[in-house]
Amino acid sequence: MAHRSAWKNRWTFMLATAGSAIGLGNIWKLPYMIGVNGGSAFVLVFIACIFFVGIPLMMTEILLGRRAQKNPLDGMATLANEAKTSLHWKWLGGMGMVTGLLILGFYSVIGGWVLSYIIEAARGVFTNVTGAQSTANFDALLASPLTLLCWHTVFMVMTMGVVARGVNSGLEKANNILIPALFAILLVLLGYSMSVGDMAAAYQFMFSLDFSKITPVAVLSALGHAFFSLSLGMGAVMVYGSYLKRDISIARTTVYIALADTMLGLLVGLAIYALVFANHLEPSAGPGLIFQSLPIAFGHMPWGNLIGTLFFMLVAFAAWTSAISLVEPAIAWITENTKIKRASATVGLGIMVWLLGVAVLLSFNEWKGVKIVFGLSIFETLDKLTSTILLPLGGLLMAIFAGYWMKKDHVQDELNLNDAHFKWWRTLNNIVAPIAILAVFLYLFEVIK
Ligand code: PFF
Repeated sequence: MAHRSAWKNRWTFMLATAGSAIGLGNIWKLPYMIGVNGGSAFVLVFIACIFFVGIPLMMTEILLGRRAQKNPLDGMATLANEAKTSLHWKWLGGMGMVTGLLILGFYSVIGGWVLSYIIEAARGVFTNVTGAQSTANFDALLASPLTLLCWHTVFMVMTMGVVARGVNSGLEKANNILIPALFAILLVLLGYSMSVGDMAAAYQFMFSLDFSKITPVAVLSALGHAFFSLSLGMGAVMVYGSYLKRDISIARTTVYIALADTMLGLLVGLAIYALVFANHLEPSAGPGLIFQSLPIAFGHMPWGNLIGTLFFMLVAFAAWTSAISLVEPAIAWITENTKIKRASATVGLGIMVWLLGVAVLLSFNEWKGVKIVFGLSIFETLDKLTSTILLPLGGLLMAIFAGYWMKKDHVQDELNLNDAHFKWWRTLNNIVAPIAILAVFLYLFEVIK
């Protein structure tokens, strides 16, 4: 058994978990999902999902990890043993490891887009750019498989380089400065968007309470995104929880992380939509949204090239810390179960995921016409499969395991809540979250039929 490292204190755990949660999901995905799914209806359901499903299940996932003190697969086996139930629960951990690698397959490609935009910003490509030019620049990037390949490769090497060294690699220290820096630069961006963009329209688009616009598809996507955004349902948070010392409050830590994660995403959304409406861009532009809208802001503001470069650097950093957590469950399992060294395991998995990424990046150009299921491209299939099915399924099973299979005392031992709070958690974990997830799955099956 490999030596298990531990987080030095609550802050490092919190920052690492926040580092996992805060990533492309907030800055790239949430804003375009809001646009694609009809604006405020999506935002409202998303916030509800974070509070009623995301927060309780994040607590669940951390408590499972801390109790098990192992990688997700063996950890679930240990917990199943302790609960005197079937060892098949370990496959829940196994599913999470695979899910993480599937997500990284496309995450790395988008991480590559961000890297390429650091250079574009630094070169001054955005100076005085118009909406149409900005869209054309982005389309040109997507149309070049070779450029995408280079950046995807750089991103993978960066990610695997850190993973190979282990969790206490200094990255957590960098987190300390860079996450607050990301917030700070976002405020600058928001200030700029407020002064030149159409903030009223953005606010109306994101926050007007119009229940009639809530569609089943928006609910499905919002739930899936709550999981994606908080890194839930695949064991990443469980692994981080397993490195967490016992004297730290799971509930408080979870609430802070969830609030920071959600606020950040919504602030980026506001900044972007103010620009989108002022520049007559398409709110439902899809995955290219931030790459088309933000350069316009950077291209016109004072010090724009510098601020743009910094912004994309911080986004790349946020993506990097998330990407690492996508591989950590699988690596923890391999190193704790086989004689394979951490470095070799990292290279092996890295090559597999890199190949998957190559297929994803080709789906934006050469293989655009290739449809896997229901008319979805390779990228869309991976994204939908992981966000709307695998992550919520993982979360559902974890909730059921902790709620109905584990001994109540063991759960309470880890959560250490007062009676009222414990009742809250139990109601949300045992009833509300499972019903919400099941309802969404039932709807999905209806649609597929
Ligand atoms: N939460 C990350 C983001 O919002 O970008 C993505 C992610 C990381 C999802 C790790 C799942 C995970 F296990």
